[in-house]
Amino acid sequence: MIILGIETSCDETGVALYDSEKGLIGHLLHSQVDMHSEYGGVVPELASRDHIRKLIPLIRQLLCNCHLKSANLDAIAYTAGPGLAGALLVGAATAKSLAWSWDIPAIAIHHMEGHLLAPMLEPDPPTFPFIALLVSGGHTLLVEVNGIGQYQLLGESLDDAAGEAFDKTAKMLGLGYPGGPLLSKLATQGAPNRFKFPRPMTDRPGLDFSFSGLKTFTMNTLHKTQQNFQDKADIAYAFQEAVADTLTIKCRRALQQSGLKRLVVSGGVSANNQIRQTLTAMTEQENARIYFPRLEFCTDNGAMIAFAGCQRYLAGQRENLEIQVNARWPINKLS
Ligand code: KG4
Ligand code: ZN
Repeated sequence: MIILGIETSCDETGVALYDSEKGLIGHLLHSQVDMHSEYGGVVPELASRDHIRKLIPLIRQLLCNCHLKSANLDAIAYTAGPGLAGALLVGAATAKSLAWSWDIPAIAIHHMEGHLLAPMLEPDPPTFPFIALLVSGGHTLLVEVNGIGQYQLLGESLDDAAGEAFDKTAKMLGLGYPGGPLLSKLATQGAPNRFKFPRPMTDRPGLDFSFSGLKTFTMNTLHKTQQNFQDKADIAYAFQEAVADTLTIKCRRALQQSGLKRLVVSGGVSANNQIRQTLTAMTEQENARIYFPRLEFCTDNGAMIAFAGCQRYLAGQRENLEIQVNARWPINKLS
């Protein structure tokens, strides 16, 4: 059985083909980063228009690369939310129209479920149950996962998502968009012990996060320096270390409280080297195992949507022809 996956929730147009027997057979991605960077962030209307331009040619190219025709496909999975409404509508309308004309089902996928399942595309995938830390530009979620659609929300960010905190802090440091990778690069030049940033909400019980205070702390710290390259690199280091430690403290707590020994970490911020290292060291101390997607599948991609679509198709999910998206869609509302 072969599923076409379509991702258009934000600023990447991603398509992929997943075969239930052979695994991932192909994927393509068009990033809009260059287009949005001129404006310092994602411009929703430009994102929608670019998805319209790129999606059909990408699907054609992918089928051609994989020597497949529409007649070989069994279903089309698309991201139905959460994300930018207009961008989501492009994917949903395209998926539903193609599915109708090719006479196959269309399957709506929750974007964060896509991220959550992405490490299962790797060799030696995690088995259920596990704890998942999902860290993207829009969400920071700690979830206990007992199977497909069995997601118990343990904690989430009360304000900025981890990726959003990276992006806003990067902006303050005069870096471009998206800030996460750029801040992380600058941090490699930073001195470890010059600044100590707080680890928000770690001194009290619970598994929620708050990252907006780190922004203010960054701003105040920056204003006390001459704001030269080394000052900014040292601040980037301290900020990244604080986010890594905070995420790690909460993940350790979730593992200990649940008694589970598997941790899945996914979403754009899981591409961060220091965060990967700090979390890995913690899981070793806890005698637990950690699972990440490969770097290119940490950030948005079509492969995770095709994979989630395949699992949902096998579980019997089908829907009508109505074109609907859900820009705000809590993950624990899934079944
Ligand atoms: O999952 P994703 O591609 O899109 C959303 O679903 O939001 O995540 C994008 C986020 C952005 O905030 C970006 O700055 C961040 O992930 N990001 C990183 C790194 N790579 C991407 N943050 C820190 N370090 C990185 N290496
Ligand atoms: Zn994402």
